[in-house]
Amino acid sequence: MISLSGGPAKVYLDGEPWVSRLNPGRVRKKRESGRHAGGRKTENIETLPGITISNELCVVMGEEGLVAIADLHVGMESGLEREGFHIPRMQTATMRDSIQRIVDRFSPDRIVVVGDLKHEFSRNLEQEWNEVRSLLSFLRENAEVSLVRGNHDNYLRTIASRLGIEMGEFYSAGKVTFAHGHLDNSSRPLVIGHEHPSIKIIDRVGASIKLPCFVHLKKEGILVMPAFSPLAAGVDMARIESSECLSPILRGRDLRRAEIFACSEVGLLGLGSIGDIGSFSI
Ligand SMILES: [Fe+2]
Repeated sequence: MISLSGGPAKVYLDGEPWVSRLNPGRVRKKRESGRHAGGRKTENIETLPGITISNELCVVMGEEGLVAIADLHVGMESGLEREGFHIPRMQTATMRDSIQRIVDRFSPDRIVVVGDLKHEFSRNLEQEWNEVRSLLSFLRENAEVSLVRGNHDNYLRTIASRLGIEMGEFYSAGKVTFAHGHLDNSSRPLVIGHEHPSIKIIDRVGASIKLPCFVHLKKEGILVMPAFSPLAAGVDMARIESSECLSPILRGRDLRRAEIFACSEVGLLGLGSIGDIGSFSI
């Protein structure tokens, strides 16, 4: 079991206080005052039953002692290099630091990677091979590891099997199914990656920031995870039609009712529904 301890935490946005009391295994939120449903800020929020989301770009299931991350895209730098874009190969080191923070904060028994651990489609590039092996070994040093196959993970099973790590099409924990999201899946509740959701926030003078975010379709029992990769923040969910979604699980759904939780260094930002965000500014 993961203890989401830390005691009562007062959080503020635009001078409006919120109180979040963090209890072992669950998170309870209470609105004290405020003008609108969006705009609450905290470090952990419970979405689907038993599932807590964190600003560390991960899902936590406290009772199962489980933490899940998605879309690491290890080796993306090599892939970009082949297309003529040269960037420092720092992504895996950055993600390793992020995983260490998750381990320190939640002490998980198991880490589930919900697809696209690696980037290259067709074959294992040398950088990708070395970094995937190193990252998998690092994960194994800290917890049991389960891999869910993503659409980029064609050759991952070869690498993982040499380390004794199993990979499946989905992972089940309690009543929750984790699947990458590139294929249709009727299981509910369902946690997916693949979409790389983000949200652009524009301030009053026109400056903008783009933050990775969780997308929660409450009625449908679907939670979409942000990409763990710092290089793959993805699409602004407030500015696409559902028909443009990568995941067939999301296509055709009314995304305007979906709730957005943006991940920032200061915490999770509950921004309300996508339908309301078009007019949201800070
Ligand atoms: Fe991906």
